[in-house]
Amino acid sequence: MQLIRVAKEYLRERQSPGIRFLHIAVLLMVISQIVVSNFAGFDDDGQISKKIVEYYGTWVHIITGLCLVPIALLFVFVELKSHGVKHFFPYLSGDHAQLKNDLMQLRQLTLPEPVSQGIASIVQGLGLGALLLVLLSGLTWFISWRYGASWSELVKDTHELLTGLVIAYIVGHGCMGVLHIFYAGKK
Ligand code: HEM
Ligand code: HEM
Repeated sequence: MQLIRVAKEYLRERQSPGIRFLHIAVLLMVISQIVVSNFAGFDDDGQISKKIVEYYGTWVHIITGLCLVPIALLFVFVELKSHGVKHFFPYLSGDHAQLKNDLMQLRQLTLPEPVSQGIASIVQGLGLGALLLVLLSGLTWFISWRYGASWSELVKDTHELLTGLVIAYIVGHGCMGVLHIFYAGKK
């Protein structure tokens, strides 16, 4: 309970109400997608399984995924508009100064503040990219499957492969976030 209160205060201090709402919506929907995907399944003929749990599991995964597409696009748009591209991708313009600074602090076992162009923002940028790839592959699979395209199975496999990126991101970014909340709570 104490952790939830500190987390709410931490996010309220750092994020505007709009970003906070979108971040929590994306976070909950992505975690639900990962959990529900365990109950999804297909028959050998490429159609959704007729087993009751797998049938509903697959449809819930598809419908939540489709609802997440506009919400995630809005989140990415708002993030890029409010912070700018360089905040998340400084290395694209060859600027590694803040990253080096953060890595130096980590080597001295100090937790760097989540500042612009630093390690936290760079990880967030990669996470937004991973989220878009997973959604785009899921959406492409859905359209190709509805049209009965012969290559839809290949797109499904690609989607399953790409989900690993989002899972790795949630673990990395989530742990970094929780560490910062703890650190802020102790100060
Ligand atoms: C951020 C959003 C999404 C996440 C995190 C996600 C996550 C996952 C995961 C973890 C799996 C299982 C991978 C495996 O078994 O190795 C999966 C499978 C799948 N996803 Fe998604 N997914 C997302 C969006 C979508 C969307 C938008 C669609 C389609 C509209 C979709 C359709 C599917 C299908 C058809 C499968 C295969 C299910 C099976 O064969 O058991 N996903 N997804
Ligand atoms: C796919 C899911 C997620 C995405 C795409 C995402 C993306 C982002 C982005 C772009 C920001 C920067 C927001 C801003 O300052 O404008 C952020 C901040 C943050 N996120 Fe996430 N996030 C996700 C999941 C999570 C999870 C699971 C946790 C914790 C368990 C978490 C904790 C945090 C925290 C604490 C911050 C604030 C960090 C700071 O002080 O700058 N996020 N996230």
